Amino acid sequence: MPDNPLAPAWLQLPGDANAFATEVWPASLNRDADGVAVIGGVRVDELAADYGTPLYVLDEEYVRSRAERVRRAFTDAFERVGTAAEVYYAGKAFLSTDIARWMTEAGLRIDVASGGELAVALAAGVDASRLGFHGNNKSDEELDRAVGAGVGTIVIDSEQEIPRVAAAASARGRSQRVRLRVRTGVHAHTHDFLATAHEDQKFGVALEDAERLVADIRSHSNLEFVGLHCHIGSQIFGADGFAESAARLIAVHARLVAGGQVPELNLGGGFGIAYNAADDPDRIEDLAQRVASVLAAECETAQIPLPTIAFEPGRYIVGPAGITLYTVGTTKPVALEADGTPARRLYVSVDGGMSDNARTALYGADYSTRILGRASSADPVLVRVAGKHCESGDIVVNDDYLPGDVAPGDLIGVAATGAYCWSLSSNYNYLPRPAVVAVRDGASRMLVRGETVDDLLARDLGARHSAALPGTHVDGTDAPGPLGRARALQLGAEAVSGLGRDAGAGGRLDRQERGHAEENAE
Ligand SMILES: Cc1ncc(COP(=O)(O)O)c(C=O)c1O
Repeated sequence: MPDNPLAPAWLQLPGDANAFATEVWPASLNRDADGVAVIGGVRVDELAADYGTPLYVLDEEYVRSRAERVRRAFTDAFERVGTAAEVYYAGKAFLSTDIARWMTEAGLRIDVASGGELAVALAAGVDASRLGFHGNNKSDEELDRAVGAGVGTIVIDSEQEIPRVAAAASARGRSQRVRLRVRTGVHAHTHDFLATAHEDQKFGVALEDAERLVADIRSHSNLEFVGLHCHIGSQIFGADGFAESAARLIAVHARLVAGGQVPELNLGGGFGIAYNAADDPDRIEDLAQRVASVLAAECETAQIPLPTIAFEPGRYIVGPAGITLYTVGTTKPVALEADGTPARRLYVSVDGGMSDNARTALYGADYSTRILGRASSADPVLVRVAGKHCESGDIVVNDDYLPGDVAPGDLIGVAATGAYCWSLSSNYNYLPRPAVVAVRDGASRMLVRGETVDDLLARDLGARHSAALPGTHVDGTDAPGPLGRARALQLGAEAVSGLGRDAGAGGRLDRQERGHAEENAE
């Protein structure tokens, strides 16, 4: 029962506002004897002192163990019904060269959704044959780069893309394995799924067009059709939507088998995580077993062999392993009224906001927060964690309880920000993007350095002065003039002690390499 009428029904007044709900916060998070939170064996006050805030912190062991866990859940479940499962990590959730290597070491493949994500995976040294390439509007340049690199599969997303992938393969003198993304009419979110005949969205082709388009794919001698693909949504808690979608897919898959080999079926990603204590997603092992048994039954009914089943989880792997550290700048109580009863909410403004976590503004996502820099015995009060942007919708945590003595200077954390936060981040209001740090066994390591204002100025060709060295010309000369790009980059790098933008790749990605269309995460 919420104690404050402004609190949503799902939010419980915590018995202990210092405690971390285990399903929401990273596994290694606890508190030192003085109350300061420790993650991966590293105190958060040390992280803040070493790297500043806002800061994305990833519990490396937890990312790796979740990757292992999801791979084992699917391979075990499908082995039991007599087929194999392949797990691709959906790089759109959060990709850096280190993450790509961790995924590879855990036995996962990687799915990329733009030329930029492809470049990161390749810069990590991932074997291109273990990559899947997505996108509803891939450019010819991206297709050429993907085919040229030898990516394992390209997911064809439209009828127009078929001859374009064939032409890219032909130009490279290669045969390219492809999937066809279809809309099954099933769309799922959290507890519910919606099943319709048609889906009003930009991805994939209608299921009823699949046979005709697969015949088209098969007519190209340099395209090898490996199977259908679908993705029914994100942050899904149960197996029902996957089961319904799988049943619809198998009906079409069976007809395609009659016309040639169809070795695989890809059911996409979307497995949900807990963002707050009220979220209760199915265990991944239970979900995998349910989907495996539905697929086995459908294939038996259709009298076809079970194909290899592929999945593409992103959020499930990295989401719960990440937190964002912020410093509180101001607090502001607001007196309101709810159903005729006076009520108060405390606005807690932090040094980041919608530029480092767009999900709250974009999707109305709910997050959890705790004071991490100290423990407090003050009574909890209902808070809203706001950012510092010029936007009233700039909210990071809509509703949670924090100790009532939360104050400027406090170090607070927001849970489960490992997925779709850094990857959706922006420079709104010219805020430099925060660094990403991995913690493990008592040590921290920067994965991606934070931006500096000079990084931002580096792309403004009219800029005349460096932010790092006020009063000097940014190109290092006395003459006024446009920014010397190399010099500005150098200044940006110097400002962060010479670390590369992606410390794992050892350098900055060129704008062109960052690709164009980024798939909407949810
Ligand atoms: C095609 C596809 N695969 C996989 C994913 C990953 O979803 P999630 O991170 O929710 O598992 C997405 C997310 O949008 C997607 O569009």
